[in-house]
Amino acid sequence: MIDYDTYGPWAVIAGGSEGVGASFARLLAGAGLNLVLIARKPEPLAATAAEARRHGVSVHTLQLDLLDPTALETVRGVTDELDVGLLVFNAGANTYGHEFVTGDTERMRRVIDLNITTQLSLAQHFGAAMAERRSGGILLVGSLAGYLGQAQISIYSATKAFSRVFAEGLWLEMREYGVDVLELILGVTRTPAMARGGLNLDLPGLNVAEPDDVAREGLANLANGPVHVAGGNQQAAEHRSGCPRDELALEAQEASKRLLPDSES
Ligand SMILES: NC(=O)c1ccc[n+]([C@@H]2O[C@H](COP(=O)([O-])OP(=O)(O)OC[C@H]3O[C@@H](n4cnc5c(N)ncnc54)[C@H](OP(=O)(O)O)[C@@H]3O)[C@@H](O)[C@H]2O)c1
Repeated sequence: MIDYDTYGPWAVIAGGSEGVGASFARLLAGAGLNLVLIARKPEPLAATAAEARRHGVSVHTLQLDLLDPTALETVRGVTDELDVGLLVFNAGANTYGHEFVTGDTERMRRVIDLNITTQLSLAQHFGAAMAERRSGGILLVGSLAGYLGQAQISIYSATKAFSRVFAEGLWLEMREYGVDVLELILGVTRTPAMARGGLNLDLPGLNVAEPDDVAREGLANLANGPVHVAGGNQQAAEHRSGCPRDELALEAQEASKRLLPDSES
């Protein structure tokens, strides 16, 4: 599924310890790629690394908050001597749900910094090296939330819209170098972060994807950028891209009220 010569010998997974990130790690290790896994909590990081090593690959773990302003330098400290053919930027679930005008500016900024600032700095750093070697891939994990503004998570939705549009432009540029770019759009997916957020995933009729399935789908479509909507959500993405925007926004708002917890996250 994953061509070692194109995307190896090393892959970096920013947010590579839990949920979809852990699934990427298992699948890439199974394809023989060596891994650099980045996350904050040491236990899931060590567990995912141990699982990946069972495939006989080398794994470096980097316990790091990607919001640290020196994150790129720290990542470079581990990766500068490695030939990185794949960057997966997975970290980025919403960390702050609140009405904008009364919200905490610092917490909103952190959502922007993780999903935009850090994502851009890693994509530029590793993208430049891939352009030089004329092969590789950049996979950014996006969200259906990025197709339509939503109350309480307006900042998160907007960062995911940014990511998707950015990925399209980057795809156009990087194809000149033979480097693949994919924005992998997820709908609701059963990850530890979702469980911690208290979202109600057992709603009748709700399409809930499993991490292994969407990670597998993403890797299988790495060369089919710039955007792939995973988990059977293509129609939902098309619907949310339509008009009139007021009707669509209000309709989605009603649907998400059933899913989101009442309190701030
Ligand atoms: N789950 C869903 O329903 C859903 C739906 C649509 C889109 N998505 C997208 O899918 C991606 C994965 O989401 P997720 O639900 O698995 O949650 P997540 O909180 O983004 O966690 C994913 C991974 O990133 C790491 N991480 C998170 N924040 C980090 C930080 N500041 N620094 C370093 N590592 C960090 C986590 O480990 P640590 O916490 O230990 O750092 C974990 O390994 C996100 O981009 C999200 O927007 C998810």
